[in-house]
Amino acid sequence: MITSNLFRKEPNRGILSILRHISEKYTHFGYQQVPEEEKAERVHDVFANVAKSYDDMNDAMSFGLHRIWKDAFMRYLNPGHNVSLLDVAGGTGDIAFRFLKYNSGTGLQNSSNRKVTVCDINQAMLDVGKKRAGDLDIDTEKLSWVCGDAEKLPFEDKLFDAYTIAFCIRNCTHIQKVLEEAYRVLKPGGRFQCLEFSRVNHTILRRLYDAYSFQVIPVMGEVIAGDWKSYQYLVESIRQFPDQETFAEAIRNMGFKSVEYSNMTFGAVAIHSGFKV
Ligand SMILES: C[S@@+](CC[C@H](N)C(=O)[O-])C[C@H]1O[C@@H](n2cnc3c(N)ncnc32)[C@H](O)[C@@H]1O
Repeated sequence: MITSNLFRKEPNRGILSILRHISEKYTHFGYQQVPEEEKAERVHDVFANVAKSYDDMNDAMSFGLHRIWKDAFMRYLNPGHNVSLLDVAGGTGDIAFRFLKYNSGTGLQNSSNRKVTVCDINQAMLDVGKKRAGDLDIDTEKLSWVCGDAEKLPFEDKLFDAYTIAFCIRNCTHIQKVLEEAYRVLKPGGRFQCLEFSRVNHTILRRLYDAYSFQVIPVMGEVIAGDWKSYQYLVESIRQFPDQETFAEAIRNMGFKSVEYSNMTFGAVAIHSGFKV
């Protein structure tokens, strides 16, 4: 379909150029089809554009619910004293800060030896995160910020006790590569945990959610962040991501054990978890 459109739209294109396009692999960027090599750059631009207003937009779009989802995500992980975490696509630090502050009720908050590495492909998001860490009561010695790609992590094998990725994996071009990299950098016994938008199963709720997503969120994006397109992409990318069970199967196929998921807010968001043995 894509190649025949190319022929139709651009009849004068040179044959070599056409052949190159035929051999290119395409993927989705929201509801658009784009060459695979272009997707990462486009996603990069989305987050570079929204970095400064990202946290405000999260609060506005989700009515603050993203805080509850992230708190629940951290309770699910329930990290102990000495855990080293890699938070991939950690953006402005929400998961990392919760991890360092997490107190399971045992009073270990300030005595813990936890360490977290935030890895994100976008330096603009990391810069906002670093600034926030400086403003919060966070021990910055326990925190490091690394610019890197989830599909090609700049870390050795078997380095971390836990791996988290929140609201990002749907943006990645090759989900399989992200899972392979997660598996590679985890120590045996390490835990993989993903927080992502997922499928609302109740038909009426799904219609309401779709109406809100498509008709309100891009408008909010325009008003708050001056960026309609990035938020249009956000909404579309959520619809392109596999449902809970399909994603759980991909995690199992990667070799993770005890894979399970837990829905929140009627399945609008799900936590997936698995262990490397
Ligand atoms: C929606 S934000 C989520 C940020 C943070 N995890 C949170 O929950 O607030 C998505 C993040 O994924 C990052 N990202 C997108 N593609 C990535 C990739 N291939 N590797 C690493 N980070 C990526 C973006 O730069 C952005 O910071």
